[in-house]
Amino acid sequence: MSNLSARIEAFYGFLWPFLAEEQTRYAYLDEPPGGRPMSTLLNAIPARRGMKAGSRLVDVGCGKGRQLVELARRHEGDFIGVDPLDQNLELATGRALQEGLHQRMTFLKGGIEQLPLESASVDFVWCLDMLNHVEDLDGAMKECARVLRPGGSMMNCSALATDLLEPREAERVTSGVGFNPATLSHERMTAAYESAGLRVVEFGTTTEEGSPFLEAFDEGLARHALRFGKVLRARSRVEARLGREAFELLCAYDQWNIFLMLGKVTYGVWVLEHASGRSASTGPPRP
Ligand SMILES: C[S@@+](CC[C@H](N)C(=O)[O-])C[C@H]1O[C@@H](n2cnc3c(N)ncnc32)[C@H](O)[C@@H]1O
Repeated sequence: MSNLSARIEAFYGFLWPFLAEEQTRYAYLDEPPGGRPMSTLLNAIPARRGMKAGSRLVDVGCGKGRQLVELARRHEGDFIGVDPLDQNLELATGRALQEGLHQRMTFLKGGIEQLPLESASVDFVWCLDMLNHVEDLDGAMKECARVLRPGGSMMNCSALATDLLEPREAERVTSGVGFNPATLSHERMTAAYESAGLRVVEFGTTTEEGSPFLEAFDEGLARHALRFGKVLRARSRVEARLGREAFELLCAYDQWNIFLMLGKVTYGVWVLEHASGRSASTGPPRP
């Protein structure tokens, strides 16, 4: 029997009995694979790293301030949001006021390339879902290290490619969503942390079994696959209503989320410590 015939036989030998009993015997395949909501996992990090009354945390690329408000609700201390876009800062300021947290929150315009903060002035740098947009990764990490006080910590959560992502897919999806493709490389991220003197103290991805940062599966991601399939079939009709550029951006956004669901991309969570500083857990400075 040829290799191909053997594979066909193996495939249907599995498939027909499986389909016959799919409903009755294999319901467990649809069970949630575990994990917790990402916000719960991430929000616990600053406290673990010693965030307390009097501490200062900066959220770089704070967007509309969603996460920063959550952090301010759960922790004592002062919170600074930095973002290059005025419209984001306006929305974030409105959110802080609405939540009654504005007295402990400040919003500043700026980017990670040149943070509007004094050197050694914050205890925690928080980068959530923003570092993939950055061109000069080494410069950005050095800037984060600059503003950290000795003993300070940092959290970065940004996307990484897995072995399932093919080079042409990487090129297409990163250009669509405005990502620097180099930031999808674990090795490249590690080199940037090292060059800035930031030591990795915790790491895990959001999708790997056994990871400390395993995120609960988001069934909502399937919506992107359904929409992507539909708009591709109605391309000229949708393009005429949405405009060509917006159509391409929508496709890039949906494809990104489909790749996430398929495990072609994942998110890495790194907890970092300013290497020249003191460890929050060990107390005295290392020799
Ligand atoms: C996907 S949003 C994430 C927002 C927020 N961190 C969150 O998780 O809800 C990416 C954010 O990064 C900001 N951003 C893009 N380039 C940046 C840069 N060079 N420095 C700082 N922020 C940047 C964008 O303005 C946007 O608010």
